[in-house]
Amino acid sequence: MTSLPVLQVVGGLLSELPADLVVVPTWDDDGFEDLAEVRDLCGAELAAARARGEWRGKPFDVFTAPVPWRASRVLFVAAGPSTGVTGELVRRVAAAAALAARQRGARRVVFCIRGPFAGTASLQAVVEGSLLATFDYDFLKTSPRELATLETVLIAGASGDGVDDAVARGSILGEATNAARRLVAEPSNTLTPTEFASRAASLLEGTGVSLEVLDEGRISALGMGLFGGVAKGSAEPPRLLVMRYEPAGDAASPVLGLVGKGITFDTGGISIKPAEGMDRMKYDMAGGAAVVGAMRAIGLLAPRVRVVGVVPACENMPGGRSFKPGDVLRGASGKTVEITNTDAEGRLLLADALWYARELGATHLVDLATLTGACAVALGKLFAGIFGVDDAWTASVRASADAAGDRVWPLPLHDEFLEQMRSDIADIINAGSRWGGASTAAMFVKEFTGDLPWVHLDIAGVAWAEEAKPYQPKGPTGFGVRTLAQLALTIGATRE
Ligand code: BES
Ligand code: MN
Ligand code: ZN
Repeated sequence: MTSLPVLQVVGGLLSELPADLVVVPTWDDDGFEDLAEVRDLCGAELAAARARGEWRGKPFDVFTAPVPWRASRVLFVAAGPSTGVTGELVRRVAAAAALAARQRGARRVVFCIRGPFAGTASLQAVVEGSLLATFDYDFLKTSPRELATLETVLIAGASGDGVDDAVARGSILGEATNAARRLVAEPSNTLTPTEFASRAASLLEGTGVSLEVLDEGRISALGMGLFGGVAKGSAEPPRLLVMRYEPAGDAASPVLGLVGKGITFDTGGISIKPAEGMDRMKYDMAGGAAVVGAMRAIGLLAPRVRVVGVVPACENMPGGRSFKPGDVLRGASGKTVEITNTDAEGRLLLADALWYARELGATHLVDLATLTGACAVALGKLFAGIFGVDDAWTASVRASADAAGDRVWPLPLHDEFLEQMRSDIADIINAGSRWGGASTAAMFVKEFTGDLPWVHLDIAGVAWAEEAKPYQPKGPTGFGVRTLAQLALTIGATRE
């Protein structure tokens, strides 16, 4: 795993801090009244850079200036207007600064907390952003890394109550997000379902979250013919990851049930996908990775609420043992499903996993899945689709996502979507038409939620960034980890 930098809140003079570079976030019309020395040393140079167009002061723009300090450079990072600063902006500014520092060979950085970045919520976001910037996606390259490794992140200008908690929370959430990204980035030849389960075991060790791994025998004994049906075509055996967080002495309910799609590779099966872009389908377990990452964070953050996590993991492969179009499978809930397209496999896994989360006592459900290309078409790479049956529950998941910096946007559920899912010989077919594909998939999944408050997040578009941004490299985003952890924290807090 990526080695974590040492994070420390420090006092004292900026000029004397042991670092290679000092990050100074700045806003439109910033007069640097609070940093007179920085203003005196760098003000003229910043103004000259602005005049020649090198520094425009747009969010995430960076500019470095030399200073006669122990750290020889200041890196200014622009944050835009000083009003309306959100946690997400702070997180991104911190990540952009840390990535820029790494590009400039800095291993030890100081982040100055100032102006609209003051307060414990921003401090947490700065820590999260700095850690998100340590994620390296090129871990299989044998040539040396292009970016320097951050060894220390010192935080200057933060003091008062809650500082230590904010740093601890931010580092747990940032690190857990990176752990999920690392799993998602890994190719399917090494991250098999079995390996996924053992990685989950190491990630959960010492966190207070238990992990039980069910093999194909137990999956079939539970009657999970939908999950089992998808898994059959692969030489790699399936695994069902069952995670439990049960804080001592806590009330029996509510129980948060988290379910994540864990397809370690999706060829489409007999309804095989085109070759173009199929390599990307190693990320079809991003929902499962988000649940594992969130369970790790939840164990470490210790909110006062019970949580169960269920991740069905398998490959979707064509072969002599594969399930086929026209087959009828029976899930653990007893419902029968006629397969019309073996590429609509995610909903089959979710159906059995949601049923199992209910068996384990979940009272409130959230699932995350790279479920449909249609959702990515509808909402692009910016927003996950959020579907829900219970307004209050949906609103609380949405609020957690907003706080965590995971963007979600509502898409409709409606009974009429099920009209195209009628089967002549079974209870339901598994794949609808092209139209409204994200909603028909969600309606299929809804059939297995037993009328519990349930939210479905379709993360097909957001789990993998195709383009680098100043604050985020290409590759897995870790979408959902912080949302789920925040949700558990919110429920835990309201019960104290
Ligand atoms: N894993 C895919 C969805 C997907 C597509 C994720 C593109 C990320 C990017 C899923 O299993 C799938 O194949 N869905 C089909 C459903 C269809 C057959 C009804 C799809 O979206 O085309
Ligand atoms: Mn598929
Ligand atoms: Zn899939």
